[in-house]
Amino acid sequence: MKRALLGLTIVMCIGFIQAAPESDSGKPEYTSDNHLLPPKNLREWIFLSSGLGMSYTPGSADHQMFTNVFVPQWAYSEFVKSGKWPDKTIFVVEERGSETKGSINKVGHFQTDLMGYGVEVKDEARFPEKWAYFNFDESSKSAQANPKAACWQCHEDHAAVEHSFVQFYPTLKPVAKKFGTYKQAAENP
Ligand code: HEC
Repeated sequence: MKRALLGLTIVMCIGFIQAAPESDSGKPEYTSDNHLLPPKNLREWIFLSSGLGMSYTPGSADHQMFTNVFVPQWAYSEFVKSGKWPDKTIFVVEERGSETKGSINKVGHFQTDLMGYGVEVKDEARFPEKWAYFNFDESSKSAQANPKAACWQCHEDHAAVEHSFVQFYPTLKPVAKKFGTYKQAAENP
């Protein structure tokens, strides 16, 4: 009996130690003054899609950027089961340059250097608007939430699932449709 209890205690301790480091959790972390810390382990997150030169105003930029969207594995798994984003979901959209000439390439575009990245978090207890938006570059140590008009409003008005632009993520779109969380009207211009 004693031995079984000891064994259980050890198992619980190991569980606790493994859960302890917050850094690999794929959840938002903040400084004491509410600034978001740069997400860790982004390269192990789930890739949702890339945009090339996407713009929400008419006219085209001379130099088109790629936008690559990522979400942590834990949040992705929840979404696949429910069509909803769990609290503490965090998204990254990284912006990369595009190039045509390089190595053997002659036409089309490939991705190059990181220009910066945007982060979106769903954190219901921390932010009155539930969703908050941040910008980082490679050297940023932390970032303050952007004003509502800069990011939040467009996501509120035009995203197909809660605040996420699932209309542009081909693997998530059928999932959201299946669970009835997809706003079809978001596909209209
Ligand atoms: C005019 C509308 C608009 C504004 C303003 C806007 N976004 Fe977005 N955002 C989009 C669209 C459209 C996508 C999906 C397309 C893509 O892959 O680039 C997107 C995607 C994202 C994503 C990926 C997750 C998701 O929601 O689908 C993040 C993170 C993000 N934006 C952050 C930001 C940040 C940070 C700002 C403010 C600096 C911002 N956005 C401002 C339209 C907007």
